[in-house]
Amino acid sequence: MADIRNNFVGIKSPNPFWLASAPPTDKEYNVVRAFKAGWGGVVWKTLGEEGPPIVNVNGPRYGAIWGADRRLLGLNNIELITDRELQTNLREIKQVKRDWPDRALVVSLMVPCEENAWKAILPLVEETGADGIELNFGCPHGMSERGMGSAVGQVPEYIEMVTRWCKQNTRMPVIVKLTPNITDIRYPARAAKHGGADAVSLINTVSSITSVDLDTFSPEPSIDGKGSHGGYCGPAVKPIALNMVAEIARDPETAGLPISGIGGVTTWRDAAEFMALGAGNVQVCTAAMTYGFKIVQEMIEGLKNWMDEKGHARLEDFIGRATPNVTDWQYLNLNYVTKAHIDQDLCIKCGRCHIACEDTSHQAITAMVDGARHFEVIEEECVGCNLCVNVCPVEGCITMQPLAAGALDKRTGKIVEPVYANWTTHPNNPAAKIAAE
Ligand SMILES: Cc1cc2nc3c(=O)[nH]c(=O)nc-3n(C[C@H](O)[C@H](O)[C@H](O)COP(=O)(O)O)c2cc1C
Repeated sequence: MADIRNNFVGIKSPNPFWLASAPPTDKEYNVVRAFKAGWGGVVWKTLGEEGPPIVNVNGPRYGAIWGADRRLLGLNNIELITDRELQTNLREIKQVKRDWPDRALVVSLMVPCEENAWKAILPLVEETGADGIELNFGCPHGMSERGMGSAVGQVPEYIEMVTRWCKQNTRMPVIVKLTPNITDIRYPARAAKHGGADAVSLINTVSSITSVDLDTFSPEPSIDGKGSHGGYCGPAVKPIALNMVAEIARDPETAGLPISGIGGVTTWRDAAEFMALGAGNVQVCTAAMTYGFKIVQEMIEGLKNWMDEKGHARLEDFIGRATPNVTDWQYLNLNYVTKAHIDQDLCIKCGRCHIACEDTSHQAITAMVDGARHFEVIEEECVGCNLCVNVCPVEGCITMQPLAAGALDKRTGKIVEPVYANWTTHPNNPAAKIAAE
């Protein structure tokens, strides 16, 4: 069976599934339950500097978005870093690492942007025997107003500076956790690399307001009639996270910088996608908070089964395999022509494909044929956009079918050219020609 042991910047774990820094990793009780359930590692809930404890709101701290089946799609929180005593956390971390030596235990940190503050906390963490530290430059609420979290993560110079302080003052591997609340993720990643980071992890949460109560006019979660933006996570943010991971993985300036993928990982398939795009492992928060720690068993079994099926003996066999297939738009192969096809046996005649195409797109799907409801693709009009596939309620009913080389594209009247495997650099590709000149 596939070997899913993970080695991330020298930190070993029995599988690539770590819990992200958040409530599931805020105390020994939780982390021990997580390890018993099979999690490969944890990033302990962010510790702050010694001093008066952090005080959280006493009202609701979550907002949410659900699918029609009430499945949780997006979660928003206004929680701060740990509100437990530093010494209590450190004592528990030491105990857990001693009891679970084969699991990864990384400690998330956030202290003021002053060298002495970092110098003070690093030896305390080192003393616990923890495997590494993760710098929380991502929290978008509460702490950022105090000059920490995303307030640091949004300024590449600060990222580089703090990362360097940490590298100079600890022998532990340093993982820099990035905020998605930025225009171009490559800049903070490059800054982390310049500062000497061993790895980056991403994403932290996305600044968000999930809803507004239309009776009280308060944003949710409402604290006595007022709300403040929170951090969004869960399945809804996965596409944002995947893109950011890919951007860093394919940036020549950060090539080879290890990445821990975070954001909406709920199934083994999500994890495999992050890893295919270049992540060395994944971290999970919302899925564990929604379904409990035992979901890791499905992740482990699912990943192993898929790897066996595909002949991937080790994680390294597929990590980064999708990265070269992420390209700039200009290099997409315009000779690749597809047409939608509706399986009449599966069609329930709801008409959603027709109305979407007719009202908003290319008028390429019939509604009535010979006086009866009949939905069929008009090849002369179909541009292959696949909106119909995405609005169809029946999975597999509408599929996109590529035209073979030599076939006539009835819309353009042109003969379809071969799909060149090396299109990115092929002389027929105008973008490649420009790049070559
Ligand atoms: C309630 C809550 C508290 C969180 N606290 C922290 C934190 O203290 N430090 C941190 O780096 N990230 C924190 N996060 C962010 C998560 O670690 C993770 O980056 C984010 O939730 C995306 O992963 P997910 O989609 O699997 O939830 C928190 C997330 C939630 C939901």
